[in-house]
Amino acid sequence: QDLTALNTFGLQAKAHAYVRFTDRAQLPAITQLTGQCRQVFVLGGGSNVVMAPHVKALVVHVATKGIRLLEASTEGYLVQAQAGENWHDFVRYCLDQGWFGLENLALIPGTVGAAPVQNIGAYGVELDQFVHQVRAWDMARGEEVCFTREACRFSYRDSFFKQSAPGKWLILSVQFFLPREWRPTLGYPDLARHEGLQAMGSAVTAHALFEAVCEIRRKKLPDPAVLGNAGSFFKNPVVSAAQFEEIKRRHPNVIAYAMPEGGMKLAAGWLIDRAGWKGKRIWDVGVHGRQALVLVNHGQASALEVRYLADEIRKDIRLRYGVDLEQEPVNVV
Ligand code: EPU
Repeated sequence: QDLTALNTFGLQAKAHAYVRFTDRAQLPAITQLTGQCRQVFVLGGGSNVVMAPHVKALVVHVATKGIRLLEASTEGYLVQAQAGENWHDFVRYCLDQGWFGLENLALIPGTVGAAPVQNIGAYGVELDQFVHQVRAWDMARGEEVCFTREACRFSYRDSFFKQSAPGKWLILSVQFFLPREWRPTLGYPDLARHEGLQAMGSAVTAHALFEAVCEIRRKKLPDPAVLGNAGSFFKNPVVSAAQFEEIKRRHPNVIAYAMPEGGMKLAAGWLIDRAGWKGKRIWDVGVHGRQALVLVNHGQASALEVRYLADEIRKDIRLRYGVDLEQEPVNVV
């Protein structure tokens, strides 16, 4: 199976074994199949992966569909979406129904099922704020397990699922609780200085916020359909207050956000940008010209080239700032 069109980075890749999961009735057969394979990889929208040219793992491609309102109470809406639903389409669907809250997460590529794995986040909102529960299939035991929000152990770009062995859990569906009382999250700098939103003042609507987020993303981030990429290639590193002071002394303009649990989250895009990497290119892989945190595929790039450029950037950032960058997308081998 050719996977080149199934990863938004557009990396040349093939899988030895592949199964498309569209119906729960397939679960017993898939469980049996995965039992026979040394490695399994659960693929959603392919927007957060670096695929090796020859993937040895059995690729289980999740393509289940369905969105259902489970409960509407005076408090809010409990909505369930199947894992294979496209994330952005789901956000827009909720908005159209009048179930608000997910606007800041508009236009994030990928699927509903993949969203809790890396706890997607943007413009001041993280997915976990809205997760009620996650239902996942235990591939080893062949049974469905229900995870409460606490059991998902969410943190910045991380979760129980991301920490588990790849192929152990297949997320089946996600339930979201969207409160009736809607409070827009407008504090993120790009939103705070957005003219359209500013003009609306306290009359800002969920639709306007959704449109503003889409507009900002389209301006800054490359559209994977035009220029292959996997979004932010590195996580924003969290450093201690002392280390931050040291960096700030030498780089007074460094951009960082205080973390609720202490420490400072540095804008890795700023570090990479100031180190002169923006727009740089090695063979067919490059650093995006408007967002240094995003690596892009200029044509026929493979995972090898991506790794080479990523390593060069990582070494340089360590040398300049004493900070280690951690890769955000998952390597599929
Ligand atoms: N910056 C630069 N140069 C750059 C890029 C950024 O100076 O080339 C500066 C910006 O001016 C800004 C700061 O760095 O002051 C932060 O940049 P930005 O607001 O674009 O956000 P980010 O930290 O680079 C994170 C997420 C994005 C998410 C945005 C908005 C991570 C790893 N990335 O990026 O998520 O859309 O915030 O909330 O946390 C993704 O994960 O794939 C992703 C796109």
